[in-house]
Amino acid sequence: MKKNRIISISIICLLLSTMYIKAQKPTNLDVNQPIEKRIENALSLMTLEEKVAMCHAQSKFSSRGVPRLGIPEVWTDDGPHGIREEVFWDKWSGAGWTNDSCTAFPALTCLAASFNTQMALNYGNAIGEEARYRNKTVLLGPGVNIYRTPLNGRNFEYMGEDPYLSSRMVVPYVQSVQQNGVAACVKHFALNNQEDKRMSINVKISDRALHEIYLPAFKAAVEEGKAWSIMGSYNQFRGEHCCHNDLLLNKILKNDWKFDGVVISDWGGVHNTDQSVANGLDLEMGTSTNGLTTSGTLPYSEYYLANPYLIGLKTEKYSQQILNDKVSRILRLIFRTTMSANRPYGKFVSPEHSETARKIAEEGIVLLKNEKHFFPIPVGKYKKIAVIGENAIRSLVIGGGSSSLKVAYEVSPLQGIIKKYGEEHIVYSQGYISTKSEYGQELVSDFNNDSLMNAAVEAAKNADIVLFIGGLNKNHFQDAEGGDRKTLELPFGQNKLITALLKVNKNLAIILCSGNAVSMPWVNEVPTIMQSWYLGSEAGNAIANVLSGEVNPSGKLPFSFPKKLEDSGAHSFGQISYPGDGIDEEYKEDILVGYRWFDTKKIAPLFAFGHGLSYTSFEYGKATTDKPTYKKDELVKLTFTIKNTGKVTGAEAAQIYISDEKSTVIRPLKELKAFSKVLLESSESKLIEINLPIKDWAFFNDKIQKWVVEPGKFTILVGSSSLDIRQKVSIEVD
Ligand code: BGC
Repeated sequence: MKKNRIISISIICLLLSTMYIKAQKPTNLDVNQPIEKRIENALSLMTLEEKVAMCHAQSKFSSRGVPRLGIPEVWTDDGPHGIREEVFWDKWSGAGWTNDSCTAFPALTCLAASFNTQMALNYGNAIGEEARYRNKTVLLGPGVNIYRTPLNGRNFEYMGEDPYLSSRMVVPYVQSVQQNGVAACVKHFALNNQEDKRMSINVKISDRALHEIYLPAFKAAVEEGKAWSIMGSYNQFRGEHCCHNDLLLNKILKNDWKFDGVVISDWGGVHNTDQSVANGLDLEMGTSTNGLTTSGTLPYSEYYLANPYLIGLKTEKYSQQILNDKVSRILRLIFRTTMSANRPYGKFVSPEHSETARKIAEEGIVLLKNEKHFFPIPVGKYKKIAVIGENAIRSLVIGGGSSSLKVAYEVSPLQGIIKKYGEEHIVYSQGYISTKSEYGQELVSDFNNDSLMNAAVEAAKNADIVLFIGGLNKNHFQDAEGGDRKTLELPFGQNKLITALLKVNKNLAIILCSGNAVSMPWVNEVPTIMQSWYLGSEAGNAIANVLSGEVNPSGKLPFSFPKKLEDSGAHSFGQISYPGDGIDEEYKEDILVGYRWFDTKKIAPLFAFGHGLSYTSFEYGKATTDKPTYKKDELVKLTFTIKNTGKVTGAEAAQIYISDEKSTVIRPLKELKAFSKVLLESSESKLIEINLPIKDWAFFNDKIQKWVVEPGKFTILVGSSSLDIRQKVSIEVD
């Protein structure tokens, strides 16, 4: 009897100890296991409730992990120009931390204007390091929606009007963010090309325009950049919201492009459980709860992918398989980032980040016009420089919506100019005052616009030269999320002011800080115009360096400037094409977006896509190809030289366009297929060799849903801008 008891106690002890050992044994959550094994293992250990809890937000910017298994929460943050300040758990407003002031990098329009993929790599790495230091799992950026209309309030956050340019820039950005163990979240997928009615507008577009213009940058970010997450957009496409859109998310993104990351909703972009479950959404963020996007009273547990989903799973309305797919993707993202054994530690507001921000700013500034060598302005040349305009002193990192930043520092244009030229040579006059800032920034003045204008005119009269620093300002309706601009015109009476200034001093240069094209009624009267974007922390230093000639400008426009709004494609077909009839919007210009429209319709833009001057000049040598005839799967080896024929060192971004001479479908007159930026000393010449895969010259054939290259003659155009073509060479495709 006693013996039996001893035996059973020993068996129980043995069982308990093996159970204990099993529990202690490293599971496949072990970082040394392949990620897919770790996912499989984690899934097998999770309860249904734990899985569902991972599919929706738990706070403004975070979602749950599985604390019981040591799987951390997912922390997202905007993006895409710097790491947004910490906010309260359930509010948009800042939590008042004192250690979260970041470096502001230039807006993505400026990055695109650099036409330099190395800049995108440096940008991604620096912002990735900042995100990592701040312990973020996901950086909500970059944005790659195509610039369709100059009125779009968020154009400044995107990379311009050309699918090739934005594709080449997004890939290194994504890769270098992610090398820091932080997931990039490419946004807003897709067709979020305006802010007007962004939550509901239903985009109607041909398959061809979708694939040729609006999807390539996303595709490149996924297939080449290997983005770990993507954000669905607010708008609808063919009657379904893009955060749960079967065609976009299931078919194109996950099936065709083999995306293995997480589809994250835009904040408040989810509208129903059935579609969220079935149509490819993985993580629901920002649905109306107290203090969130729209007022409402739903707690996080009532999100579409929370309790309603759990109940549906329990009653077998929804399949476990789809849930496991969503959770696998979220786990994969966590294992790639916060639970990666090789995650670096990051850096925050380091001198290297300032340097990176400044260099990108300097490379992105575009000199639009420069008569009689008005710029550069060497230090010491003039005794009195009048700086006029509100943007010379305004913070341009604050505002714009979700990309608004709390920064460690920001050098304003005026500060940069004073530092460069000396306070004794600068006189500042505000000239105009903008409307009340919705972002708490007040530039108070006791004077109205007339008095400010009179004072500015006085300052201009007595100065050797005048630098007008104006533009838009990231306030609502002036380059900001949630609303489009109302007109192409400069706001706050700036045109009137410029005209008044010109009457007293013709030595006037315009420096525009904006992320969008503006009309320029005074364009023929000013000698110099410089497009300075929103340049971030180092704005003033970068502007002053270009002004003084220490840096030779080399940026090129990533989008066309129309002379008037009606000249651009989206605005040529009435309301239905922009902003839509309130419900639907038809992209009637189809594939003819930006320069594709201006070129093909023979409308002269104010400034063309790819345009940008330098303080030196470049000569393009004859372009040649390695042979005259090619097969569709071959590469054209294009060569030509560029020579710096001026007196100073400078960089030129040469652009290669192709033109399909004869086609069964409409093709744009030219399409960008390559670019190469080269730095040349005075008199230096370099040979440029570029491989052009002919398969990339295809158009998307809607009928057979395939990319097609038709045989025949193609002309390769080598240019300094889309309108300034310097060399041509034709080849045959067999
Ligand atoms: C924006 C996103 C942003 C998100 C979180 C949304 O309103 O559209 O781009 O990442 O808010 O701030």
